[in-house]
Amino acid sequence: MESVHTSSMTRDGYGRKDLVYFGGCDYFRLSGHPAVVQAIHEGLDEFGLNVAASRITTGNHALYGILEKRICEFFKAPDAVLVSSGYLANLVAAQGLSEDFQNSIMDRGAHTSLVDGSTLISPHPPLFYNHLDCHDLKSLLPVERKSESFVLLTDSVFSITGEVAPISDLLEILPEHSMMLLDESHGVGVMGETGRGVFENPLESDERVIRSITFSKAFGVYGGAVVGARKWIRKMRENSRIYSGNTPLPLPIVCGILKSLELLDRSADFLIRLRKNIRKVQNSLKDCGFRFNREPVPILSLKPKDEAEAGSFHESLLNHGVYPTQVRYPSPRDTPVFRFALSSEHSPEHLEALVQSVYDAKKSRNS
Ligand SMILES: Cc1ncc(COP(=O)(O)O)c(C=O)c1O
Repeated sequence: MESVHTSSMTRDGYGRKDLVYFGGCDYFRLSGHPAVVQAIHEGLDEFGLNVAASRITTGNHALYGILEKRICEFFKAPDAVLVSSGYLANLVAAQGLSEDFQNSIMDRGAHTSLVDGSTLISPHPPLFYNHLDCHDLKSLLPVERKSESFVLLTDSVFSITGEVAPISDLLEILPEHSMMLLDESHGVGVMGETGRGVFENPLESDERVIRSITFSKAFGVYGGAVVGARKWIRKMRENSRIYSGNTPLPLPIVCGILKSLELLDRSADFLIRLRKNIRKVQNSLKDCGFRFNREPVPILSLKPKDEAEAGSFHESLLNHGVYPTQVRYPSPRDTPVFRFALSSEHSPEHLEALVQSVYDAKKSRNS
């Protein structure tokens, strides 16, 4: 890629022409929002880049505490700890929980950062339940294991497919002295009634859920955080080697995150526009023969049945001026999937180009 604007991108290799961009996870295009960019500039002018020390030594600038307080207000969470990335948020959470839990159990399709996190919770290898499968989870937790303490690790929204985890059902199955580490990277900003995530409305079991979040997707900046009960966040600050040994986020980035939180807090328009776009595409593709999410998730994914079908879809997207977002994830050995991230800033014409290319691909699939 050479550049990504609001909804188009330029890439050498496609004749340097502008293509409509449905890649990435910048669901509100806040990464280029003038107010966010200005906040980062001003932060750089005022503070320089870096505190050059861990927060537990001489690097604990007051802005980090201010941001943590804002994160608590935004997510209505009792406590929050700021971390240098969403990936590290899962590792910090795992290190914080490791003293109190014996085992981990996780969705087979969980993000790689949760897989790495599970290795920090316990020396026992994690148990994997089949993707989104509560029955399988139940079968792995027979009565004789009910007295053990588990951390269940799952994404709330799965990054490639946009599938949503059945959080309440999972919590119901979980043994009494267990916790959930819920990766809300693709939930925060976009899911829930007001965009606070899939777990936006805490149940009485709230204390059992620790949420990891990222600021590099819907918030358009960079960095991560863990939010949840005070007891667990304190343990992360005290026990996480990553928290104690890592230089915290650059201060201009903190300024950008503060601005981004302010924008999403102040106006529901971003979310309204995004949901309108999601509805439009979901309605237009209702009869296209591919399976798509019905929840208001801004991710569409389409799995070609073979390389030939992938090739014709690739061509159809280019014919309609859409960048072919074909990914093999998490490993380059995985079968290719076309993943499209809708944003609040895509125009009706952009969405139409995507819909038409899907229909063309369907035609060539059926011919
Ligand atoms: C589900 C999930 N968790 C964690 C991460 C890591 O977040 P970050 O890019 O902020 O490190 C990602 C991002 O790619 C993700 O999709």
